[in-house]
Amino acid sequence: MAMALDASLEKNQMTTAMAMAAIKSAYAYTFTTSISLLLLLMILVAPANGRSHGGSYLARGTSVSVEDGTKAAATTVTILASPNGAFACGFYRVATNAFTISIWFTGSSGKTVAWTANRDAPVNGIGSRLAFRKDGALALLDYNGAAVWSTNTSATGASRVELLDSGDLVVVDADGRRLWGSFDSPTDTLLPSQPMTRHTKLVSASARGLLSSGLYTFYFDIDNQLKLIYNGPEVGSVYWPDPFINPLANHRTTYNSSQYGVLEQTGRFAASDNFKFAASDLGDRVIRRLTLDYDGNLRLYSLNATTGSWSVSWMVFRGVCNIHGLCGKNTLCRYIPKLQCSCLRGFEVVDASDWSKGCRRKANLRATQDFSFRKVAGADFIGYDLLYWERVTIQNCKHLCLDNANCQAFGYRQGEGKCFTKVYLFNGKNFPNPHTDIYLKVPKGMLLSSSELASDKVTHACHVHQKEANTSSLMFQDGSSNFKFGYFLTSALTLLFIEVVLITAGCWIVHKRDRRPEIIDEGYTIISSQFRIFSYRELQKATNCFQEELGTGGSGAVYKGVLDDERKVAVKKLNDVMQGEQEFRSEISVIGRIYHMNLVRIWGFCVEKTHRLLVSEFIENGSLATILFDHQSNSPVLQWSQRYNVALGVAKGLAYLHHECLEWIVHCDVKPENILLDRDFQPKIADFGLMKLQQRGSNAQMLSKVHGTRGYIAPEWALNLPINGKADVYSYGVVLLELVKGVRLSRWVVEGEEGVEMADICSIEILKEKLAGEDQSWLLEFVDHRLDGDFNHSEAIVMLKIAVSCVEEERSRRPSMSHVVETLLSLVE
Ligand SMILES: *[C@@H]1O[C@H](CO)[C@@H](O)[C@H](O)[C@H]1NC(C)=O
Repeated sequence: MAMALDASLEKNQMTTAMAMAAIKSAYAYTFTTSISLLLLLMILVAPANGRSHGGSYLARGTSVSVEDGTKAAATTVTILASPNGAFACGFYRVATNAFTISIWFTGSSGKTVAWTANRDAPVNGIGSRLAFRKDGALALLDYNGAAVWSTNTSATGASRVELLDSGDLVVVDADGRRLWGSFDSPTDTLLPSQPMTRHTKLVSASARGLLSSGLYTFYFDIDNQLKLIYNGPEVGSVYWPDPFINPLANHRTTYNSSQYGVLEQTGRFAASDNFKFAASDLGDRVIRRLTLDYDGNLRLYSLNATTGSWSVSWMVFRGVCNIHGLCGKNTLCRYIPKLQCSCLRGFEVVDASDWSKGCRRKANLRATQDFSFRKVAGADFIGYDLLYWERVTIQNCKHLCLDNANCQAFGYRQGEGKCFTKVYLFNGKNFPNPHTDIYLKVPKGMLLSSSELASDKVTHACHVHQKEANTSSLMFQDGSSNFKFGYFLTSALTLLFIEVVLITAGCWIVHKRDRRPEIIDEGYTIISSQFRIFSYRELQKATNCFQEELGTGGSGAVYKGVLDDERKVAVKKLNDVMQGEQEFRSEISVIGRIYHMNLVRIWGFCVEKTHRLLVSEFIENGSLATILFDHQSNSPVLQWSQRYNVALGVAKGLAYLHHECLEWIVHCDVKPENILLDRDFQPKIADFGLMKLQQRGSNAQMLSKVHGTRGYIAPEWALNLPINGKADVYSYGVVLLELVKGVRLSRWVVEGEEGVEMADICSIEILKEKLAGEDQSWLLEFVDHRLDGDFNHSEAIVMLKIAVSCVEEERSRRPSMSHVVETLLSLVE
């Protein structure tokens, strides 16, 4: 199925039309659905309708079996029809012996599906039933009586199930009040008048012609913007609106939290984040649907009532390279105007029939010590930056990449001196403006190999052949179908059909053995698979019933654990999380997407009943507090170079949180206890983002919690000012002083024997004067005695100068974290 990457819908009017024609014929050949058959079907399902009092609704206590129509080998078994005849609802055949409950457009030749109840768990073709149970729930029962899907209307006054003219399948009570509706849980399609809200999202199908869930989602993000996100097997990322442009420049707003959008019958769409569009064929007589297609593009379609085919009247992307995941990792995507994926030089394709699997390195990077860089001019890879700098030289940037074993390449923007080190090469494409060059990290020997030098051309390329047609208008009309092409597509579709049957059969067996929990996890799809949901029982087992406590902080106790895959983890039981499950999930999913070498990696979480747990990587050497202040412990004294490295790493981590993250995050509790050191004494910041989780609790409580780590808190906390990143800068300043002096600042302050705050300021003032003076002999006395004078003077001076500026009372005078990083780095050279 090399056609999977077919981007024809993008730019090619003809292809859409031809595909529709082909689908039409495919249906005709494969299912022998014809008008007469439809009539026959009507007659066949008549008894079912009869039971439901006239065919317009289902009454409580009735059920319809799938066999009521399958004798005719029909594609569909109609249970309900909307009064205007535009929609029908019933069993929909997805494979020889597998059905879903779906709503489809009766006027479309391919019976296009608008909604599906059980897209990822079809039921058997024999013995399955849709039952409007006596208890009030509408349920889909498999052949063995197990409920595959059901509405939450049991024990309510539910009285009828109807299909409305809008295409909304509803459960209503005796007074006609809507208790449940299919509009509340769309699949990949939004219909006119169906609202997009914080609770609804569209999830693409996994391939053309299939109903099962795919990798793309259209949803309201927590910043109130409508977005498109790719959730791949390894990584996930937002690809629309352009993540490089701020919301204002995209004509969006993040301030309207109502999170609401709706497509009007006329073809206009408007949402609370200011996102709007209008169909190219505005007017209210057209049947429309807004569908997130399997290729990650969002398209508005209009139905041609005479031919039964769809045409595109609006879409997000014209060039598909902006959609993430189509070409896979280590590739460059081109659209000319066909989609073309190619491996980077020195890489080979993983599976030539499926480019989304990307390419792999021919040589093992880990096996070499000696690296060099190969330039790929005018290209960039989006996301997965280890670090980002401005105004650095290309040499510095190179070193930043060499110093990190995970660095695969770096991007460099000449002129601005922008440098990005990359941990993962994904979403690659040519990027003429702004011009960035990518420098690939390669083993030194490879650069010289003759075969590599032989050609500068791409080593592999996949071409998706398609018929070209000159297109100028946006409407994609049903043209005269090209018979050969249609025939070709028909056979492709027949193959696809066979494949579906095989896959479904396979799934069937797996499905029988291992039935997943009844309801598909709501929050799951917006979270990439690196990051997952754990069950409480799983964590109980991993931590041996929470035996080994690693420590307790304001936010909760932390336990050591080992997962089934032998990964060591730290499991934190969160206290005082005041939120509902859904909010908790969305907050956590933000934290979970943050990846930086100086931040503790979050592997997942657990939310069950009252339990709220966070699972993160286990860091070998414990906290900086223990190593620095616990003179009794047998841990070695932290050497000067290690201290400087900790200062730099913590600054990098905070700079990332403040400036680079998907969402701007203030840590709010920076202190040595929250700085962990790994095997190589590289610092990793823990507990970031947790403040946000607790924010919805009472304000007073939050403040008292912060007061718990007094000594590190910025004065604005006490003044009740809004808190921003500068509060972290203050705490960082305190940590810097402690790193240099090797004692808690609070202890140091007590020596002054005055009120804490006063003494604090005094000693800072004294330190300022000393730093400004000529004579630097005091330094030897000041720096941690355990180092026996073995430290770098200029580095110590820089650290102290930064520390002093960070603890400025007036927050506007404190530097930003990225500025701190630059200053610290300037000495590393
Ligand atoms: C927010 O969006 C809603 C829905 O689109 C709209 O009715 C409301 O006026 C907007 N509020 C503001 C303050 O713009």
